Amino acid sequence: MLFYFTATGNCLYVARQFDEDPISIPQVINNDNLVFEDESIGIVWPVYAGEPPKMVLNFLKKATFQTKYFYMILTYGKDDSDAPEYAYHLCEEIGIHVDYIHSILMVDNYLPSFDMNEQKAIDKHIEEQLQIALKDVQERKKEIPKASQEARNFHARAAKIFADNPGLINGEQITITDKCVGCGICTQVCPVKRFYIEDGKAKRTENTCEFCLACAHNCPQKAIITSVSDKNPEARFRNEHVTLQDIIKSNKQ
Ligand SMILES: Cc1cc2nc3c(=O)[nH]c(=O)nc-3n(C[C@H](O)[C@H](O)[C@H](O)COP(=O)(O)O)c2cc1C
Repeated sequence: MLFYFTATGNCLYVARQFDEDPISIPQVINNDNLVFEDESIGIVWPVYAGEPPKMVLNFLKKATFQTKYFYMILTYGKDDSDAPEYAYHLCEEIGIHVDYIHSILMVDNYLPSFDMNEQKAIDKHIEEQLQIALKDVQERKKEIPKASQEARNFHARAAKIFADNPGLINGEQITITDKCVGCGICTQVCPVKRFYIEDGKAKRTENTCEFCLACAHNCPQKAIITSVSDKNPEARFRNEHVTLQDIIKSNKQ
């Protein structure tokens, strides 16, 4: 059994390598019964400033996992800092023992810092990384990567920046431009249902969201930007093995 959270498909692509039919966290998090039992249970999630997305954390807190082997595969785009070690300790605090954590470097979908055209052009050797993680999990390897002090400091600095400037990560920055044609795709890819259509245009409710950027990346008109700080408002990303329908199926509320 394998769970995942995705905005642009990296985690879904990875999840599918481990399990034929992975389960999207936004599709189950509100279920009454969150007790899961299997021989092995995994979770694939994207690193957000060294940490899991809020919804992944909530899922970990709410769910009960009955398994002999619990593992996590993290996807990230540039620097996973101390995310594996941090996640391990976070889970221990919640009462979940994690046997194995592995991070996989992929396209970085954080629009305020990265040009997606540049990211897509970099060969990050994803398949090689996947083979290592797949073999490890098949062999039920137990390994939690230990972070360097530098990585812990990097995470602490990023966490402070976001704590001091919540607008950077709470969705306040998500802006719908005049290019919007009201197609409604943003209403279907948002895992927390922040969008609706009014008078033929997309509108957004309150600010707080996952800041996963599924809305911006999957908008066919490129009509959703992260305010003025978008590195390249004309470049967007979805994992080449994943379709828009896959993202909708994963996230639609
Ligand atoms: C809000 C946000 C914060 C991110 N923070 C980091 C980070 O600290 N380090 C990193 O290497 N990548 C970071 N990324 C990039 C994602 O972790 C990466 O692109 C991931 O593979 C996306 O997975 P998905 O396609 O399944 O959504 C961040 C992305 C977002 C949207």
